[in-house]
Amino acid sequence: MTLPEKWGVVSHVLTLENSIIREILKLSSQPGVISFAGGLPAPELFPLEDLKEASVRAIDKHGPIALQYSLSMGVTEFRKAVAEVTRHQIPDVKMENILITSGSQQGLDLVGRAFIDPGDYVVCESPTYTGALQAFNFYQARYMTVGMDDDGMIVDEVEAAIKKRRPKFIYVIPNFHNPTGITMSLKRRLQLIELANKYELPSIDDNPYGDLRFEGDPVPSLRALGGDTVISLMTFSKIVTPGLRIAWLVSPEGMMPIFERVKQSCDLHTSTFGQMVLLEYLKMGKLDQHIEKIRRTYSARRDIMVNAIAEYFPSGTKVVKPKGGLFLWLTLPNKMSAKDLLPKAIAAKVAYVYGSPFHPNGGGEDTMRLNFSTANEKDILEGIKRLGRIVTENM
Ligand SMILES: Cc1ncc(COP(=O)(O)O)c(C=O)c1O
Repeated sequence: MTLPEKWGVVSHVLTLENSIIREILKLSSQPGVISFAGGLPAPELFPLEDLKEASVRAIDKHGPIALQYSLSMGVTEFRKAVAEVTRHQIPDVKMENILITSGSQQGLDLVGRAFIDPGDYVVCESPTYTGALQAFNFYQARYMTVGMDDDGMIVDEVEAAIKKRRPKFIYVIPNFHNPTGITMSLKRRLQLIELANKYELPSIDDNPYGDLRFEGDPVPSLRALGGDTVISLMTFSKIVTPGLRIAWLVSPEGMMPIFERVKQSCDLHTSTFGQMVLLEYLKMGKLDQHIEKIRRTYSARRDIMVNAIAEYFPSGTKVVKPKGGLFLWLTLPNKMSAKDLLPKAIAAKVAYVYGSPFHPNGGGEDTMRLNFSTANEKDILEGIKRLGRIVTENM
């Protein structure tokens, strides 16, 4: 018997799996490995000097308050500033709709706490973000998966899923989806809103990448399209830094007392100091120009990766070229297993995440997710060259 078994750790926690991505990240952190496995923002783009200055200002201006316990919903002045940051995506947002969370990952956990009883169904795309699955699995969710095409979630499949097993909510990543990079079209968004309203079902719009658009016009958010049933998750992780773990949940006001309660049960409140630092950073007025810099860098890296795949991968390889975000989604030729290929790739010192863990009900064995934000241009070229060789040799 293992110690957790002897001590009676609850059975569903004993059987929870560790994140496969985090396991692959351990392998890919060996020296010399070029990793396309994580979803890390480029560290050289973190606004270090500005955040240093913002940290000093947080202490100078707010004194001990910056280091004290604070409100569960978030620091009031910060919530107001966050409402401003949110307004271009959710025009009618008010401070009262915002709960500051410790990362969007906590937002997912709070949604799980609030909605999922053991065995409840959740509708989600397949593939979908593994972190959401981990969060919902903790509450013993089951999944009704719907497919994706170039326009995102195939909403036609959702109604049948709703009718079959009354799910608790619809989880969707409409902008530069993780892992596929696909953005949901306006038509599909309207269709989803209509359906959610018809069945009075909440939709969870997980939106960490909405601001990282490289080209084309933004598609209005689900909530902006009239979705009073929408709960949105947004984060500073990809547009400033993930290390502060500051994100926010936008919800109809009627749900806020519930979210306040589940937030309290979780961690009382998000780091006061982290909120104050970001508040002072936002007051500097540099966020937009900083996001512009990130977009330029990532867009160039995406192009290098897409072009290198065209050059070094065998014909029959399919790639989705995203208009933003952090990820490329690739389908291997001849139904090759991306999982079987990984040890060979690691031996050749290049890493990626194979696609199957993103499929809660199975599938996707011949797919892989490649991150283009972390490695520099030279490493992207070299890594794709190595990976292309491994794929070709194993055809
Ligand atoms: C779709 C999606 N949701 C949520 C998260 C978690 O973000 P955060 O760093 O804010 O916890 C990520 C991170 O990669 C993500 O891709």
